[in-house]
Amino acid sequence: MRVLLIGSGGREHALAAALASDESVTKLICAPGNPGMAALGECVPVNQTDPAAVASLAVTSAADLVIVGPEAPLVAGVADAVRAKGIPVYGPSGEAARIEGSKAFAKEIMAAAGVPTAAARVCRTREEAEAALDEFGAPYVVKDDGLAAGKGVIVTEDREQALAHAVDCERVVIEEYLDGPEVSVFVVSDGKTAKAMLPAQDFKRIGEDGTGPNTGGMGAYCPLPWAPDDLVAEVMERVAQPTLAELAGRGIPFVGTLYCGLALTAKGLKVVEFNARFGDPEIQAVLALMETPLGELLLAAATGRLADVGSLWWREGAAVCVVVANEGYPGTTVTGRPLYGADEDGVFHAGTALDASGQLIATGGRVLGCVGTGKSVAQARQEAYALAEGVKLEGGYFRRDIAANI
Ligand code: AMP
Ligand code: GLY
Repeated sequence: MRVLLIGSGGREHALAAALASDESVTKLICAPGNPGMAALGECVPVNQTDPAAVASLAVTSAADLVIVGPEAPLVAGVADAVRAKGIPVYGPSGEAARIEGSKAFAKEIMAAAGVPTAAARVCRTREEAEAALDEFGAPYVVKDDGLAAGKGVIVTEDREQALAHAVDCERVVIEEYLDGPEVSVFVVSDGKTAKAMLPAQDFKRIGEDGTGPNTGGMGAYCPLPWAPDDLVAEVMERVAQPTLAELAGRGIPFVGTLYCGLALTAKGLKVVEFNARFGDPEIQAVLALMETPLGELLLAAATGRLADVGSLWWREGAAVCVVVANEGYPGTTVTGRPLYGADEDGVFHAGTALDASGQLIATGGRVLGCVGTGKSVAQARQEAYALAEGVKLEGGYFRRDIAANI
């Protein structure tokens, strides 16, 4: 089968590597792709958030399956445009992707489906925000209602700072603080049937010991040796199935990845957020352990045949991903510096490009994901850090405590 993969980040590089190792994938086209993905498939330029452009590329490249990686094209309706051409696509419609695109919509679906989550208020004015902050108390959680690449959320003890963030955004969701460890579970759905991947954990803050501002994710590992055995079953039963059923009941079947971001609180499991795509960097670690051929799995989901696919197969052991970021991330980054050590196996490109002379340079905030595997999290971690240590990038930064003491 010919597969067209939309996106250019670490998630897409990891997806490309898994697709390239699937025998049923005879041709892989990455649009726009990145220098790391160029070794695995043909990279062609495209404006990822232009539904007509992506649909037309799907037709001209004779794709049998289109996989949309990032959220922005999904929310822009790229999957709808491809589906309208009669081509199977793995990724939800623009309407279904609102589960990520609008935090208020996600809360509405959860309330209707009886899914446990933090109590929340949608606020449009300073007065509403003040009332909600005082209702829930510190620590304050204030979320921009729109897409913000994981950076639109602040969690703070400081009421002034919380209020300032609320006033800065047009519409915010202010909610109850959830304590307890966070877990990411990716659920592959064809609209009716769903299958969960191994649970993973992400390290969101820029600084060691979980300090500093939120990022898109500075590292991840899977599986979670400390998690209860029935965690995935509980997530399917109490979170994913009811949410997918609620969407389907509204005539919005969700075909793609329902990313369940959860907190395991003292009062039980609660949803922190939903996303409409695989989480990055978690998926880089998760795919390192997946044995089920990815192309076949996602084609089955895109064509409503997931019920025919058996259980997902996983390698024994663990995987760890350590993200190398550019100087300044998650604020304004210094980009364009030469980058070395990025062509090793297990190193995924997230923000790289080739300059006019063909030299690899670091562009995005998150530059590389370094993935190690091993019998235990500790072993996988050693391998991931060996790769990260081998990266040469002036001002490059990575957390030293990813998956430490697990
Ligand atoms: P979100 O974009 O909703 O995932 O939020 C980003 C990050 O902010 C989450 O991964 C959490 O670390 C933190 N966060 C979000 N909502 C809450 C909450 N209700 N309580 C505690 N932390 C939260
Ligand atoms: N790593 C978190 C996310 O992909 O949103």
